[in-house]
Amino acid sequence: MSLRQSTDLVGYLKMASNSTRRHSPNFLAAKILTRVLQGQPLEDALYEHHESKDIALLTFLCYTTMRHYYSLHQRLSDISHRPLDQLDIEVKCLLLLGACQLQYSTLPAPLAVAHVVTAAKKIGKTSAGSLINAILRRYDAAIEPSLEEASYELPQWMIDRIRSDYPSESDEIFQTSTARAPMTLRINVSEISCSVYCDLLQKSKISFEQTALDNAITLTKPMSRSKLPGYENSYFCVQDLASQLPVSLLEPQPEHRILDACAAPGVKSRQIADVFPNNPVDAYDIKPQCSTWNILTDTGNKQNLQLKQGDLTTTSWWDGTHYDRILLDAPCSGSGTLSRHPDIKVTRNEADVSQAAELQLKLLNNLWNVLAPNGILVYCTCSIFFEENDSVVAKFLAERQDIAIEPFELPIGRPTPHGWQTLPKEQAHDGFFFARVRKQYSNA
Ligand SMILES: C[S@@+](CC[C@H](N)C(=O)[O-])C[C@H]1O[C@@H](n2cnc3c(N)ncnc32)[C@H](O)[C@@H]1O
Repeated sequence: MSLRQSTDLVGYLKMASNSTRRHSPNFLAAKILTRVLQGQPLEDALYEHHESKDIALLTFLCYTTMRHYYSLHQRLSDISHRPLDQLDIEVKCLLLLGACQLQYSTLPAPLAVAHVVTAAKKIGKTSAGSLINAILRRYDAAIEPSLEEASYELPQWMIDRIRSDYPSESDEIFQTSTARAPMTLRINVSEISCSVYCDLLQKSKISFEQTALDNAITLTKPMSRSKLPGYENSYFCVQDLASQLPVSLLEPQPEHRILDACAAPGVKSRQIADVFPNNPVDAYDIKPQCSTWNILTDTGNKQNLQLKQGDLTTTSWWDGTHYDRILLDAPCSGSGTLSRHPDIKVTRNEADVSQAAELQLKLLNNLWNVLAPNGILVYCTCSIFFEENDSVVAKFLAERQDIAIEPFELPIGRPTPHGWQTLPKEQAHDGFFFARVRKQYSNA
């Protein structure tokens, strides 16, 4: 959200904080941010409040705070007598929220501080009220932070890794990581053609741009999906442009059995079921069927799609019938999605990348057992780190004799030694890696 948009919320913030709401936006936002700093994804923590009247404001407060965490943190640290990370976690979140409003809204400073102090009392941190008040009153939004982490709004380990993996493109990647992610729609052409859907958008005066993919458009300004035409009719799915690419690499024959491995929340399961309506699709995830599958319950289940639970590092879930096509959208650092998920930069650490790479290789080796001879496996991550991408595929290739790389080209991104990479630049799409391999007959 831009500064201009944020100022539109000032009146609302005043109104929401003065009203008879059970909990003020600052109270709820501090609770949400506390859970995020303790490890819950921001998207999930916010989703628990999706029916709240204050959801737009909560979204703004939480996303802006996480997006600018490092500069807010430094400005606060410079004026706090105690290290910020040694404070009670809820007090720290209240300070960050206060700083966010002083920095990114035009709410009068005394009012912003008063709201945060009131929220502290409601949370039960009455004794911290004077500390919060004293620090926020000294806060100076005009001071430019000196640390590299604060300038790029990224942890140092990520700055170093991005520089090392992409020496000539790192500045563009840094810039995009702080921007707001674009909102792209995949038009469900089994329900409506893309051109007719574009007419609907034009009639509703919603502006958009064509993309490199025929059936995807990007909205000029993100908005609530339920306000878009055709939401009830499943005319579209909200799906990042790069995230739409791997399903096209599956190229199944009509009778082929497809496994969507690591499928929750089901964005790509939904796409597979839309694009290949006659193929049986099993979508497995280690998470149970619950709200994490919300993308599917949003728009109704598909006949050809089964949602199942299983740990795909084992074969205990497998019925013994091989799959002809497997999409492995592996758990990863999410480093290609920092503008969409700004909490990742704060909650992940460097060791998580190596752990993810180990799990990715384990999943690849295990899923190879359930792939039919001559079958195709598409591996993808929403990471831009070499360690989770080409490096994992290189190890996988080195461990087995029965793999052939299947080359391909995509409309966005560039080739890598073993696959294809899109980078999050120019606010057009996320960073994704893709590789495609075939199981050779000879050693199957
Ligand atoms: C990148 S997300 C998948 C996103 C999904 N494909 C989509 O498009 O909506 C990775 C998923 O891997 C799942 N996962 C992690 N470890 C797993 C395991 N051992 N077995 C099965 N799923 C696993 C996580 O629960 C998470 O939902």
